[in-house]
Amino acid sequence: MRNPRTYDGSYLERVHEMLVSSKKLGYKRLNPQAGETVLDVGCGIGLDVLEFASEGSNVIAIDADEEFIVEAKRRHAEAQNINFLLGNIFALPLAKSSVDKVWLDRVFQHLPNHNLALMELKRVMKPGGKILIMDTYYHKISLQFSNGETIRELIDYMIREKFPASAALNDLSEQMEKTGFSIIEQGIQQHSFKGEEQVNQLFRFNKLMLEMRDKELITAEDLASWVGYEKPELHLPILWIHAENSV
Ligand SMILES: C[S@@+](CC[C@H](N)C(=O)[O-])C[C@H]1O[C@@H](n2cnc3c(N)ncnc32)[C@H](O)[C@@H]1O
Repeated sequence: MRNPRTYDGSYLERVHEMLVSSKKLGYKRLNPQAGETVLDVGCGIGLDVLEFASEGSNVIAIDADEEFIVEAKRRHAEAQNINFLLGNIFALPLAKSSVDKVWLDRVFQHLPNHNLALMELKRVMKPGGKILIMDTYYHKISLQFSNGETIRELIDYMIREKFPASAALNDLSEQMEKTGFSIIEQGIQQHSFKGEEQVNQLFRFNKLMLEMRDKELITAEDLASWVGYEKPELHLPILWIHAENSV
């Protein structure tokens, strides 16, 4: 069973704005064409679908969260060539070899089994179809703050408690090749955010620090110095992989 989510549509909108430069590069790389079928898996409230639909593609946008699908349908009630479906990446409600292009933004970080997800994506993709995956590279996050040791503990805690599946991102491109994708290009795009407000908007570090203090993983003094610190700086790497369904 999936963990209950800890974010809502307005959080997705804020993050969309903060990471929009990575998203724009991703749209360009995927390069949807008129008449193609583009699948957005883990579409959330549908913040990316217009990019694909405006090129004349037929868009199928799927999410496992019913509330997000209801909100996405409400936002795009007028759209002709966008179809929102409730569904799970491990059992997509789509026919074999029916999709030309696939987009997934910050979905693999939530998935307990990357291999099964890749096999299911491959099933619905046409031979030669393209896939663009973007994800937060949690293991390479760096956060500048006066107490470096507390920060390492904070990031380790966040990965362990909130995004355990993200460890497998290190092996994602290798896993894709084993599943029968060939990598076209891959890379990491860095995003930097300064100041307490922006940094906390993304990951709610204050809340995590409170949890850690309650579990006695850090001291009350560690928490107080973090909360009083006005100039944290976050360097957030976004991993992206562009690949082809080759076999
Ligand atoms: C961080 S959000 C990103 C949403 C959207 N891609 C965006 O950029 O705004 C991750 C999304 O993946 C969805 N998701 C998580 N596990 C899923 C699964 N097994 N099948 C389908 N969607 C899933 C969540 O419901 C959520 O909407």
